[in-house]
Amino acid sequence: MQMDLTISDIHSLKKDQAFEILAQISRVEKKTFPANEAFPFGEELWRKKPNTRVLYVTRAASGARPTLLAYALYVRQRGVALLHKVCVAEVYRRQGVGLQLMNYIRARLQREGCQQIHLWVDKARSPARSLYIRNGFEEREQIPDYYVPGRTGIKMILDLVWLC
Ligand SMILES: CC(C)(COP(=O)(O)OP(=O)(O)OC[C@H]1O[C@@H](n2cnc3c(N)ncnc32)[C@H](O)[C@@H]1OP(=O)(O)O)[C@@H](O)C(=O)NCCC(=O)NCCS
Repeated sequence: MQMDLTISDIHSLKKDQAFEILAQISRVEKKTFPANEAFPFGEELWRKKPNTRVLYVTRAASGARPTLLAYALYVRQRGVALLHKVCVAEVYRRQGVGLQLMNYIRARLQREGCQQIHLWVDKARSPARSLYIRNGFEEREQIPDYYVPGRTGIKMILDLVWLC
């Protein structure tokens, strides 16, 4: 059964709540990614960054101090959104959270007139590649040693115009 989730934007929060969510995101990010790939989810993200969106996922009706289940970060540049991060906290994986988050991102960007979503993924991250392929992304390019020597980056693109 699908988990009942709330997916929101940190920009819709008041400062203190936004900082609390960013701190939770930062902790999960550091646990999940090696230091050279961990994005610094600093408090400045809540301030004026109109092209940068940080989405966070909590359980619906989870009270005043919601627990973070997942998050994503993308940057809009005209008709293209570059999806930098999608991450589900380890204990909540394999329960459909990633899929719901991707569906939300796709529908929202499509509604906002975005034409393509681009991303780079490490070839070794099979769960992520599989999630993206399930969402209709296509692999377009591979660059050896993209992240560090020995780790290949794959560029994936989802065309939103064809999904209308
Ligand atoms: C990739 C990630 C976001 C998937 O989130 P999730 O909530 O576990 O995914 P879901 O339960 O919604 O699964 C959706 C689909 O993703 C794929 N998938 C997820 N976990 C997988 C795994 N361990 N092995 C293979 N495929 C997997 C499958 O296609 C799955 O569909 P299925 O259940 O019908 O097989 C999660 O594993 C994660 O956060 N990984 C660490 C961070 C990361 O690598 N992010 C991407 C790069 S920024």
